[in-house]
Amino acid sequence: MDQDPSQHPPRTLVLIGFMGSGKSTIGRKLHEQLGYQLIDTDALIEERQGTSISQIFADQGEAAFRDMETALLKELATESPTNRIVSTGGGIILREENRQLLRDMGFVVWLKAPASEILERTGRNDDRPLLQTEDPKAAIKAMMSERKSLYKEAAHLKLDTGELNIEEACAGILECASYHFTQNS
Ligand code: S3P
Repeated sequence: MDQDPSQHPPRTLVLIGFMGSGKSTIGRKLHEQLGYQLIDTDALIEERQGTSISQIFADQGEAAFRDMETALLKELATESPTNRIVSTGGGIILREENRQLLRDMGFVVWLKAPASEILERTGRNDDRPLLQTEDPKAAIKAMMSERKSLYKEAAHLKLDTGELNIEEACAGILECASYHFTQNS
């Protein structure tokens, strides 16, 4: 992708995908490579609420958290455009309104990893309330199959990260984003 921001109007790259699919890691790498602002919706919600996602789920419930996600997306959709990478929470695609907001915002990349890898990565910490169950593997499989069509609907690009290293994943995203923005400018 043309990395000189003065050569094009502001661009937004949006990363969606299941918990543990690599959104934060790839978001940080793209931020380093492009110098675009990095917005992590979970981190921003935690900062504004002054507490963790787990605590928000425990105190206010999932629906309240989903309202926070939608409110934040609306805010991001209306703020004056800058070059940015928006890395999202895995359930942000659950609401139709959010899927539309994401697509309108920029180029949406669905990062997809196999369930075994997701289990391995998410098992390293206990900060994901939806996986605090007796059988996280079954929960992951059920949610993945429920959400698959929603990720697909929201995304411009699906990228299987299972076989790729981080450099290859970023290169693939940048090449496809460049094409997308050229076609839609
Ligand atoms: C969620 C994913 C989490 C976080 C919350 C709910 C989900 O974000 O938003 O725990 O519903 O999949 P990550 O995908 O960054 O783990």
